[in-house]
Amino acid sequence: MKKNLQENLADVTIPDVNVPPHPVHLAMSTRELAQLKEHIKTMLRRQDAVLVAHYYTDALLQDLADETGGCVADSLEMARFGTTHPARTLVVAGVRFMGETAKILNNEKRVLMPDLNATCSLDEGCPIDLFAAFCDRHPDHTVVVYANTSAEVKARSDWVVTSGIALPVIRHLAARGEKILWGPDRHLGRYVQQLTGVEMILWPGSCVVHEEFKAGALEEMCRRHPRAAVLVHPESPREVVAQADVIGSTTALIEAVRTLPHPEFIIATDAGIFNKMRQAAPDKILLGAPTAGEGASCESCARCPWMEMNTLEKLARTLENGHNEVEVSPQLATRARIPIQRMLDFARTLKK
Ligand code: 13P
Ligand code: SF4
Repeated sequence: MKKNLQENLADVTIPDVNVPPHPVHLAMSTRELAQLKEHIKTMLRRQDAVLVAHYYTDALLQDLADETGGCVADSLEMARFGTTHPARTLVVAGVRFMGETAKILNNEKRVLMPDLNATCSLDEGCPIDLFAAFCDRHPDHTVVVYANTSAEVKARSDWVVTSGIALPVIRHLAARGEKILWGPDRHLGRYVQQLTGVEMILWPGSCVVHEEFKAGALEEMCRRHPRAAVLVHPESPREVVAQADVIGSTTALIEAVRTLPHPEFIIATDAGIFNKMRQAAPDKILLGAPTAGEGASCESCARCPWMEMNTLEKLARTLENGHNEVEVSPQLATRARIPIQRMLDFARTLKK
């Protein structure tokens, strides 16, 4: 890491987030499950629809997306996929900002989600009125927001980034001498700041899932598993990130499991990612990083409660009745598209 800069957190009180309970899955026989999947596949075909799922969603949804020519990806690739696929309907299994991003980039397409209430603690903790006032107090700063935000917050920003592209974007802006106002994930912001040495003012938001990883328990786990590599998503707290062998987006962590020689991995991110990791490296041992402190009943319960709202049953209902359509007004979409498109254009220059 480059420098140990002061963590310059904004002096704002963000709202409390109402975290939903984990859903109870309906028991289904193998036959009923196969029938439901066939029913969904038929509806996808008939409606010229494609399923775009995040790595944190249920394994059944991920596998269905793969089997039907859709995609399972991180939030950057989900955004890109929707713009390149010819289907007239995008069905986004993930959280609301992912559906909104798909709609903003593809205003002419119908965008559906299995559950429109699937939000994200970062999005909820960054309401537009508070955030806009914060930006107004720092008019000389370039506003960079994480994709995990509402369309309104994106529209107020200069750049949108995902965890997969935050570092090169901030390096690029730093080279132009720009001062950065960052929101809403304080941990990703601090991590990027430490690597680049850029002065940044950070919105004090965090992810309820990654915030739970415990550094002390992780140290003990590493002692018990000396052959394991530690993989950490940068939304995790500083002391957890400090123990990582690899820090990166969901795609980067899957790639690490596939390519590193280690026989075991300790993984500090949502456990939904294990599905793709197992497919990428079936012989490797995958362990969830501890979320529990002493006396807790759960060793590692890193599951995003909003990602879990996406189920096969809800997906079927959505396709049957077309009710869960994502709406973003054309005026708002026009403004929010600018910083997202800036990110996608920048990503293209990196690929070259
Ligand atoms: P990725 O962009 O790495 O997929 O992360 C999205 C997210 O919500 C992580 O919690
Ligand atoms: Fe948001 Fe965290 Fe869930 Fe990702 S895991 S969608 S950051 S609450």
